[in-house]
Amino acid sequence: MKISIIGTGYVGLVSGVGFAKHGHEVICVDIDEDIVDSINNAIPPIYEEGLEELLEKVVDSGKLSATTDLQGAVEKTDITFICVGTPSREDGSIDTSAIESATEDVSEAIDEKNDYHIVVVKSTVTPGTTDGLIKSILESSGKKVGEDFGLGMNPEFLREGVALDDFLDPDRIVIGGWDEKSRETIKRVYESFDAPKLVTDIRTAEMIKYTSNALLATKISFANEMSRICEEVGIDVYDVMDGVGLDHRIKRDFLNAGPGFGGSCFPKDVKAIKNLAKKNDIKAELLEAVLFINSQQPIHTVEILEKKLGDLKGKNVTVLGLTFKGGTDDIRETRALPIVESLLEKGAKVTGYDPKGMDNFSEVIPSINYADSIEEALKDAEACIIQNDWDDFSKLEGKDFEVMKNKVVLDGRRVLDEEKLDKEIKYLSIGKGGLD
Ligand code: UGA
Repeated sequence: MKISIIGTGYVGLVSGVGFAKHGHEVICVDIDEDIVDSINNAIPPIYEEGLEELLEKVVDSGKLSATTDLQGAVEKTDITFICVGTPSREDGSIDTSAIESATEDVSEAIDEKNDYHIVVVKSTVTPGTTDGLIKSILESSGKKVGEDFGLGMNPEFLREGVALDDFLDPDRIVIGGWDEKSRETIKRVYESFDAPKLVTDIRTAEMIKYTSNALLATKISFANEMSRICEEVGIDVYDVMDGVGLDHRIKRDFLNAGPGFGGSCFPKDVKAIKNLAKKNDIKAELLEAVLFINSQQPIHTVEILEKKLGDLKGKNVTVLGLTFKGGTDDIRETRALPIVESLLEKGAKVTGYDPKGMDNFSEVIPSINYADSIEEALKDAEACIIQNDWDDFSKLEGKDFEVMKNKVVLDGRRVLDEEKLDKEIKYLSIGKGGLD
């Protein structure tokens, strides 16, 4: 099929490249000319494992191209996926300005078109947005959904860092459609994908996305609450979760305690669904607790260190891992931010290191030291906190910490193999006894 994709962030570009791999003809649209040029030159404007190689293939084979001409792209294709960002507003609700503006342009283009066209929202939007706001913008040109054009909602479940794998080999594909024709058309796009397909109405599709993310975030905060109890009674929460996770109804995934969840999705989506509840006079107490626990974990992380080192004033503390997780340069809602802020407040001298996130992090906090390597970051440190789960950190062994002045290592993400650490290293970890 001929597909246009509006927005070339990690959802739009990964989806475009993935659809092209499945044989569709894809036109990616972005307002930024540099991004468009970069895609046409097969250089991905974002970092995602495997994206560069696949982008090169699909650009070379002519299956994917990029343009700033939205109307032309809609005109030349059968289906348009809207993949623009929906960031948080102050009150937690989603900012729909980008999706509104993209939809206005799509609406004008559809108005000019004689053939059937279908618009599918892939951006994460709260239930009622697609068949409310988006539909009304699309119909402002005079054409009617269900009669003149189709409408759908097809949420993404892509994890940053492994987004391409998640796209090409998904657990499920959720297809929400206004009418039978819309649903059948979206199903055709995914015909060659080997995954369970769930066909729903539009609002259900929107809600599945939020409920999935809210439940995953809940699992993490639950693990963190259990970890606080385990720490006090001298039990390792990771061992506990290994036992709990063997129950097929629960599963072990997303039960890793640590400094909490970050990223562009979990915090934003939990806030948005909490806000939707509030608008409907429902107090989402569980979700409030999920966010509260998450806000406490970075503070708790620094407190663990403080308990071991005493006053942090003037102490050299290294934070390994500045992005919200390994495998990405994304620092949105990274737990490194509250950790570093708390360390600075307590007067520590902070050095940061991350394989890919230092440029982004230094734009937000320019005032700490940045090291060019793990070794440089650890040199003369009096303590180090491992904040994310880059592979480079999990490979560290006892000898790598020899350059430290005082070998206190707080493994926030349980990435180190304790057996490979020397006895003189004081190994601390969230959710494990022996912190006093
Ligand atoms: C998340 C979801 O996993 C995707 O399914 C979803 O499509 C995406 O949001 C989205 O809505 O677009 P992502 O934000 O890329 O993906 O990252 P995750 O791998 O889910 O991790 C999120 C945060 O949770 C990270 O900070 C990670 O360190 C933390 N985490 C994860 C824990 O603290 N404990 C765990 O057990 C697992």
